[in-house]
Amino acid sequence: MTATDTAKPQIITGKAKLAGVLGWPVAHSRSPVLHNYWLRRHGVDGAYVPLPVEPDAFVAAVLGLQAAGFRGANVTIPHKEAAFKIADVLDHSAQRAGAVNTLVFEDDGKIHGYSTDGAGFVASMEAAGLNPPKQAQALLLGAGGAARSVAAALQDCGLRVAVTNRTQGRAEELAKALPGLDVVPWNVWEERLGAFSLLVNTTSLGMEGGPDAGFRPSLAHAAKELVVADIVYVPRVTPLLAEAQSAGLRTLGGLGMLLHQARLGFEKWYGVNPEVDAATEAFVQESF
Ligand code: ATR
Repeated sequence: MTATDTAKPQIITGKAKLAGVLGWPVAHSRSPVLHNYWLRRHGVDGAYVPLPVEPDAFVAAVLGLQAAGFRGANVTIPHKEAAFKIADVLDHSAQRAGAVNTLVFEDDGKIHGYSTDGAGFVASMEAAGLNPPKQAQALLLGAGGAARSVAAALQDCGLRVAVTNRTQGRAEELAKALPGLDVVPWNVWEERLGAFSLLVNTTSLGMEGGPDAGFRPSLAHAAKELVVADIVYVPRVTPLLAEAQSAGLRTLGGLGMLLHQARLGFEKWYGVNPEVDAATEAFVQESF
C-alpha cells in the first residue's frame, strides 16, 4: 500500500453496497475504520456504518436493514446471541460458538449467521507463523463468548484445549458445549502451565479500563516453546504479553484477530477478499 491508496476517495453511488456494525454501545468499534479503509483500497462502491442499537430494538433493526437493501452486518456486544437466534441458516462456526458476529442477507431473503472470531484468531496466529503443531495443548483463560469461539476453532484445528476461569461453573458449562474440552482450576493454572504450548487470554483482564488493567500472571512454569496470545488489543502490549516477552517467549497481540475476523463479512458483502497486511494493521492502529 502507498499513501495514494489511503488517499483514494470513497465511492458511494446510488448502487453502493451497504453494511455496518450493530452494537450497544458501538462508538468504540474499529470495524468502520477497517471496512471503509478496505473499501477505498479496493475501489468498491460501498459504505460501512456504525449502528448503535439498544437490545430491545435489535430484531426491528436487523429486519429494517434487510428491508433497506443492506448486504448484512457485523454484530458485537451485547447482540451476538440475539443474532444467533435471528439467523435462518447457521454456519458450522456459529453453531460451535453458540453466537453470531456476522450476518449476511442473501438474495433469497434468508439471513445467514457466521462466527468469525475463532477463525480470525487462528488466521492471525498462522499469519504470524505461530500456530502450534496439531495435537498440541492450549490453555485458555476465561469461559465467556470469546473463549467459546476461540476454543471451538482451536479444537477444529486438532488441538487439545483446556479452559480455566475464575468462576469454575462457567468453565464446566463450556466443557459441556464443546466435548473434549478440559477444565483446569483457576487457582492452579500458573503452576500447570508447563504442559501447554499455547496460552490465550480471552478475558478482559489486562485491558485498559478493564477489571484489572495490571493483570500480569506468573509465567515461571512455562515451557520455553510456549506461545502467549492475548485477544485484548488496548494496550497493544498487555502486561501479560510484556511478562511473556521478558521471559523470552513468543507473543501474539489481539489486533490481528480483530482484522482477520472481519475478512469473511467483507468478502460476502462486497465481493472482494481483503488482505490483512502491515499497512492495514498500521491504519487501524492509528485510530487508537
Ligand atoms: P466475552 O463474551 O467477551 O468473553 P464475558 O462473557 O463477560 O465476555 O466473559 C468475560 C470473561 O472474563 C469471563 O471468563 C470472566 O470470568 P467469570 O466467568 O468468572 O466472570 C472473566 N473475567 C472478567 N473479569 C475478571 C476478573 N476480575 N478476574 C478474573 N476473570 C475475570
